[in-house]
Amino acid sequence: MTVQEELDKLEQTILDNNVCPELHAQATQLVFGSGNPEADVMFIGEAPGKNEDLSGEPFVGAAGKFLDEMLGHANIKRPDVYITNIVKYRPPDNRDPKTEEKAEFWPYLLKQIAIIKPKVIATLGKHSGKALIPDLVISEDHGQPKKLKVMLNGKEEEIIILPLYHPAAALYNGGLRQTLIDDFKIVPQIIKENS
Ligand code: URA
Repeated sequence: MTVQEELDKLEQTILDNNVCPELHAQATQLVFGSGNPEADVMFIGEAPGKNEDLSGEPFVGAAGKFLDEMLGHANIKRPDVYITNIVKYRPPDNRDPKTEEKAEFWPYLLKQIAIIKPKVIATLGKHSGKALIPDLVISEDHGQPKKLKVMLNGKEEEIIILPLYHPAAALYNGGLRQTLIDDFKIVPQIIKENS
């Protein structure tokens, strides 16, 4: 099976297992993830918003445009990376994802990571950041890569996690813009150091 076929199978499993049925019932569709299935870097956001719910692709609305701008500053092409969210259905009225919703999607996110095997995972915002680094304090830890041991496919693997602010945070707080630009530039450095 190709990596893309493995991802397609995982996407179908989420549907077959009826993950988060309440969120599913009010969403347009599952927003599983998109990009290069063999990417060196995987970005993990929080949950789809309205535009993502309608298009089926993560980060296509205002936060997505900002993400594209940040990728540009870091000389990263969007088709080269893989982008997903911890919760894969749009929460009603764009509310924060609930703990139990994140917990329901967690095993599928781990499987998605195990299939893609990125060199670095950049988390966008506190929901995905805290899922991978439980004691994360985003104001202190952003832009600082951490090595993490994760069970992937029954094997303990070390992966590098780079916690980043959510792009939407900089849309609301202009002061974070330069911080995000500086932090995004760390991504290619990590890839180079680990090639
Ligand atoms: N914000 C997210 O966290 N994810 C998206 O896909 C869009 C906005």
